[in-house]
Amino acid sequence: MKARIAVVAGDGIGPEVTAEAVQVLQAVATRHGHEFELIDAPFGGIAIDLHGDPLPPATLELCLGADAVLLGAIGGPKWSAPQLKLRPEQGLLRLRKELGVFANLRPVSLHPALRDASTLKAEVLEGVDLVFVRELTGGIYFGARTRTDTTASDQCSYSVSEVERVVRVAARLAMGRRRKLVSIDKANVLETSRLWREVTERVVRSEFPELQLEHMLVDAAAMHLIRRPRDFDVAVTENLFGDILTDEASMLAGSLGLLPSASLGEGSRGLYEPIHGSAPDIAGQGIANPIGAILSAALLLRHSLQLEREAAAVEAAVSAVIAGGLRTPDIASSGTRSATTRACGAAVIAQLN
Ligand code: IPM
Ligand code: MG
Repeated sequence: MKARIAVVAGDGIGPEVTAEAVQVLQAVATRHGHEFELIDAPFGGIAIDLHGDPLPPATLELCLGADAVLLGAIGGPKWSAPQLKLRPEQGLLRLRKELGVFANLRPVSLHPALRDASTLKAEVLEGVDLVFVRELTGGIYFGARTRTDTTASDQCSYSVSEVERVVRVAARLAMGRRRKLVSIDKANVLETSRLWREVTERVVRSEFPELQLEHMLVDAAAMHLIRRPRDFDVAVTENLFGDILTDEASMLAGSLGLLPSASLGEGSRGLYEPIHGSAPDIAGQGIANPIGAILSAALLLRHSLQLEREAAAVEAAVSAVIAGGLRTPDIASSGTRSATTRACGAAVIAQLN
């Protein structure tokens, strides 16, 4: 098949890890007879430097016209002073909104060979396999903000249809898995959460009666996630709670650097990015873990290009590389030699071939 993929690598380690994901996509194309046109565009802090805009019009146009968007990471100390008006993060939020990608899928599973990479006890982690579905284009991230010298406010609002559509994505996903859905909210305090809970209850009971649905308060969810992570199958939650809980959940897999994400909307076009940030502290050293980016490319193959066989092949290659003992520093244990970003990407490609 032919596909057009916009590549917005961004800042910090973004370009380093994205380069490996791009090579993997090219290897998949060669091996399976596809034609992927991968087009780079400036985005994030680098785009502020070049064009005075974290999401320049030409980059947005490219992304809107592509079959999928592969994103690295954005931000860094250079663009984070509190008095700055333009921030890389604004570009990311706008891109998500413009693409209409309201459902952010963040799968977390533990590779057996990494059971000791986490700071959590191995016996708690055994068998962890869950997916977070984070609402991505609403809530407090997109509400009105005010600021005076003495007060500040951020508004959080959700509409019925915003909740319905993301809950449907999560419910469909759960139907193809262990049929367990946890909806996470703060309904004992927040009005938006009470609406969230009502809508979730109605949608799931009427459209997905076979699902086992549980509502959980976000504070309790934060605890249960590390107390009994195996019990989670699919979890759906609003934007801010999802942001926080998925960083927590990443520790179940051993490292933030391992985790991919897919952001989906109504059509097949999606936005794919590792869940880690731009990690300015290690940028430029060639030691970042590219697995989150490579697994994001696998999700791109699956969800936007409907290439399930190719997606599974990339995932199997990553799994084999980890099983073979190759480790970037974030997952290396004492006594093992740590590999570079490049070596990790090359090993995945070798495995694919
Ligand atoms: C994420 C990130 C972003 C978010 C930042 C960079 C704006 O933390 O994708 O989880 O908060 O959504
Ligand atoms: Mg985050």
